[in-house]
Amino acid sequence: MMMKYKLFTGICCRLYSASIVSMNGASHRHFCSSFLTDISSPETTVTVGSQTYARDEMTNVTPHILSKVGSNLHNRKYHPLNLLKQRIRDHFYKNYVKPRGNPIFTVVDDLPPVVTIEQCFDSLLTPKDHVSRKPSDTYYVNKDHVLRTHTSAHQSDLIRMGCDQFLVIGDVYRRDTIDKSHYPVFHQCEGVRLFTERELLISKFSEQDMEGLTVFEQGPRIPAKQAPHTQDAVVLLEADLKWTLTRLAHDIFGKDIETQWVDCYFPFTHPSWELEIKYKGEWLEVLGCGVMEQEILNEAGAGNKVGWAFGLGLERWAMKMYDIPDIRLFWSQDSGFLSQFKVDDANTPIKYKPVSVHPQCYNDISFWIPDNYTENDFYDLVRGLGSDMVEQVELIDNFTHPKKGQTSHCYRITYRHMDRAVHQEEANKIHALITEAAINNLAVEVR
Ligand code: DAH
Repeated sequence: MMMKYKLFTGICCRLYSASIVSMNGASHRHFCSSFLTDISSPETTVTVGSQTYARDEMTNVTPHILSKVGSNLHNRKYHPLNLLKQRIRDHFYKNYVKPRGNPIFTVVDDLPPVVTIEQCFDSLLTPKDHVSRKPSDTYYVNKDHVLRTHTSAHQSDLIRMGCDQFLVIGDVYRRDTIDKSHYPVFHQCEGVRLFTERELLISKFSEQDMEGLTVFEQGPRIPAKQAPHTQDAVVLLEADLKWTLTRLAHDIFGKDIETQWVDCYFPFTHPSWELEIKYKGEWLEVLGCGVMEQEILNEAGAGNKVGWAFGLGLERWAMKMYDIPDIRLFWSQDSGFLSQFKVDDANTPIKYKPVSVHPQCYNDISFWIPDNYTENDFYDLVRGLGSDMVEQVELIDNFTHPKKGQTSHCYRITYRHMDRAVHQEEANKIHALITEAAINNLAVEVR
């Protein structure tokens, strides 16, 4: 079996919403869609969301990276990362339930990304000289706070709060080059499941067969197990963990997907593994996992339990699931990209179709609708006249006059061709034809 040593899995990826981010200091303002980055001097503080932190010699967050905080792509309706999040959440909700049917896993997806060094590294037993702590790899808000580099940063707190089974989904930040598969902000899903001795044993044995079996002992730490764990405990945890994750991968990628396990190293688990799937003929690593270090559980007040944990990168999963070729596309505001994921059922199969490289232009049309009007008639009419030039038709306003009782619709028609540029004059001509046809064929009254 192959053995890999690494700090983090290579899982990457995510962001949009309305929080305000600012770096306080001096002289210029930088507006970025819904984000405001305000730099005024002297630069003594860094503000992230509603929190302000003292700057110091460790601060290396940039206005650009701060402008991403609060985007929360994983919580953005109709975003591919949100669809994937729903799939994973629903998988755990459906398959892991208490006797009365309520889910055992708690899902947390709104924890702010600024965490302490203790949360991100110390609580997870990350060695002091570990590369993941280096300012060359990590965004420091100041010497005590970082933008989390992984969702594992929340493990200890949630366990201390009494959570025994949970998923944490959120944006994570790593200083990295930007290319097709790397972006300094991406999204992860963390999973943790703890068991008391009895819960673990009863999952595989009858009361009688359980007798004499234990999960704790004081033995040596060896490649196969930690000092306080019995071999039996590891065998059961490993089987449950691998079964849980293989089942998830089959649900998301399909039953026919080939999988393999590779031994590896993480500071917070032992033993540790990575799951690889066969994708387009090559083995691709999709998650890291392992038996949780008992010291982490002891420190978090759950020393009577044992557990497993895993972490996966949402972008990497979504890129395979939807055939998205470039991680940067998750940040696209282009309706050609986003409209492909506009489905109310997250299980709808979607294969991404590359968007035209040519620019878009759009025109709006507003009209009072007659009684027998149906939206689909208008969509058909637009497609009939606009054919390859129409990328999207969207109802952007729906208003009923309080006195007249008449309803008005406003549609935005986005014009873009896959193979050539569409100029505004050309779009205007088509738009005029569409307007005329709507009046004549659908009896609408243009406003
Ligand atoms: N935190 C790791 C990373 O960022 C992923 C991971 C590996 C999480 C193993 C875990 C785990 O919970 O047990 O790449």
